[in-house]
Amino acid sequence: MARATIRQELKNTRSASEAIITNIVTPHDTNYLGTLFGGTLMAWIDTAAGICAMRYAQTVVVTAAVDALQFAQPVKLGWVVTARARINYVGNTSCEVGVRVTAEDTQTSKSVHAASAYLTMVALDKQGTPCPMPPLLVQSDDEKRRQRAAETRRALRLALQRRTAAATKTSANHKPQQ
Ligand SMILES: CC(C)(COP(=O)(O)OP(=O)(O)OC[C@H]1O[C@@H](n2cnc3c(N)ncnc32)[C@H](O)[C@@H]1OP(=O)(O)O)[C@@H](O)C(=O)NCCC(=O)NCCS
Repeated sequence: MARATIRQELKNTRSASEAIITNIVTPHDTNYLGTLFGGTLMAWIDTAAGICAMRYAQTVVVTAAVDALQFAQPVKLGWVVTARARINYVGNTSCEVGVRVTAEDTQTSKSVHAASAYLTMVALDKQGTPCPMPPLLVQSDDEKRRQRAAETRRALRLALQRRTAAATKTSANHKPQQ
């Protein structure tokens, strides 16, 4: 196998594109309860997923959708928050990135699962049009399991979009006469 192909293939793995971002919760990041504001955490999740997908696609990406966002635990002022993003699945021009967030109280060294989400990121070319991503190299049993789960979520996501679009169209057709 040519050296360039091997180098490219090494990039097309889950671990090569992993992105980890770490922040400390400052007073500016908190809500009136003194815990981390959800919108700030969402921005950190989106940033981590964006870096991961850009690293993988080697082009600009945009966030198309965020699914299954869950805030598992409140995060307190001064805690250290780590968002870890990894590719689960690659379609044609889109991929699913899973982000898991942990929060650490450095006074006690205790770490908790704070949040998680799945983001669909789409690669764009220089004209801003969706463009193909390299195929994902899936090797381990864990990677295969994550890919299968992501495929199921993608099918459900697309089916929900189709049904929502159909329902919106139907209700628009049944507008009461003015
Ligand atoms: C995301 C976007 C580029 C998709 O454009 P589009 O014309 O619908 O593109 P396509 O229909 O060709 O779909 C492209 C891919 O995105 C996926 N996609 C599009 N909309 C989606 C959605 N709402 N949820 C999940 N996936 C979606 C498609 O399934 C397709 O994936 P595939 O190529 O792997 O099969 C466009 O909707 C957009 O620019 N949205 C705004 C993005 C944005 O501003 N994000 C916030 C800032 S980063």
